[in-house]
Amino acid sequence: RKVVKVGLLGLGTVGSGVVKMLRQNVEELAQKCGYEVEIQRVLVRDLEKMRAVDVERHMLTRDVQDILEDPEVRIVIEVMGGEEQTKEIVLQALQAGKHVITANKDLVALHGALLHRAADENGVELLYEAAVAGAIPIVRVLKQSFAADNVREVMGIVNGTTNYILSKMTAEGAAYEDALAEAQQLGYAEADPHADVSGLDAARKMAILASISFRQAVELADVKLEGIESVTQQDVERAKAGGQVIKLIGRARREGSAIEVSVAPMWLEAAHPLAKVGDCFNAVYVYADALGEAMLYGRGAGEMPTASAVVGDLLAVLRGRKFAAAQPQQMARWA
Ligand code: NAP
Ligand code: HSE
Repeated sequence: RKVVKVGLLGLGTVGSGVVKMLRQNVEELAQKCGYEVEIQRVLVRDLEKMRAVDVERHMLTRDVQDILEDPEVRIVIEVMGGEEQTKEIVLQALQAGKHVITANKDLVALHGALLHRAADENGVELLYEAAVAGAIPIVRVLKQSFAADNVREVMGIVNGTTNYILSKMTAEGAAYEDALAEAQQLGYAEADPHADVSGLDAARKMAILASISFRQAVELADVKLEGIESVTQQDVERAKAGGQVIKLIGRARREGSAIEVSVAPMWLEAAHPLAKVGDCFNAVYVYADALGEAMLYGRGAGEMPTASAVVGDLLAVLRGRKFAAAQPQQMARWA
């Protein structure tokens, strides 16, 4: 069986999950794609830090060129976060003919068009299922399964941290700060959690979903956004007394040529399907002409759910036509 070498950028919450999943499922993954996946090098900031997974010291590097200039590395998995520097790194990887998988919504929301162009020009894949709604396969569904349809609206809960906070405040009367600290502890929050609570993380995801759904670039700057920072325990209690719950809702609608995308806290009737989405779960509702209504639901953040989406993208690359040396005959029959 052939071995494929992967460069991993980042070994935090998501990176550790990816390492665990690749190590736990070597045989199954090989049966599904025909390749044994090996992590060649891992980019980190701090070589001495205690890690959630055992990675041999010689595999760690602080120099990204160790990965970008290694001809054996054919796939780069970017789970380090960041915008400008990361854009340059990902561009270099694509230009070097490496397939890229990223969980970075900042990057895709701001530079998606540029990166897609670079991927196309270099005949490689750029996949980012984990960037939106964690384990829910919404990017693939909108790009592929619903591609023939005319999507009119995408709406839902696309940030796990704020949903965790609002759910804790509603169900347990938890203080906002305590619930946020727990979400950070659980690995749901961004490195700077202001991105979560300000609604920016959800806005990035909605810009990506709107761009895919409506087949045109929707700029992050055009997303109207309001976070949950001003939601008080009194608001939560008042909503509850009236049989309602407060949720941070992202919404993207197309009416003719006009596209409107927003993120804001909304008061929903307790019986509303999105009102029941608790913990760090996300749910995305889609309305399209032929399909009618559909809703996808699942874990929106955290180590293993996000790793599942990243490794799913890795399999998609390895099974895809662009991965030149694919050997489909070695795959399991129903893989
Ligand atoms: P994290 O725990 O903060 O991990 C980031 C990792 O990247 C760390 O290992 C860090 O190295 C490394 N890193 C960051 N900047 C670096 C730099 N300039 N040079 C070298 N290494 C660098 O973050 P995370 O939660 O795993 O998230 C990673 C990405 O996935 C982000 O884009 C995030 O938005 C996205 N994402 C996260 C989740 C989630 O649930 N956490 C879900 C979906 C998507 P050190 O360890 O040495 O500091
Ligand atoms: N911070 C993000 C969230 C991670 O809470 O949804 C998943 O994208």
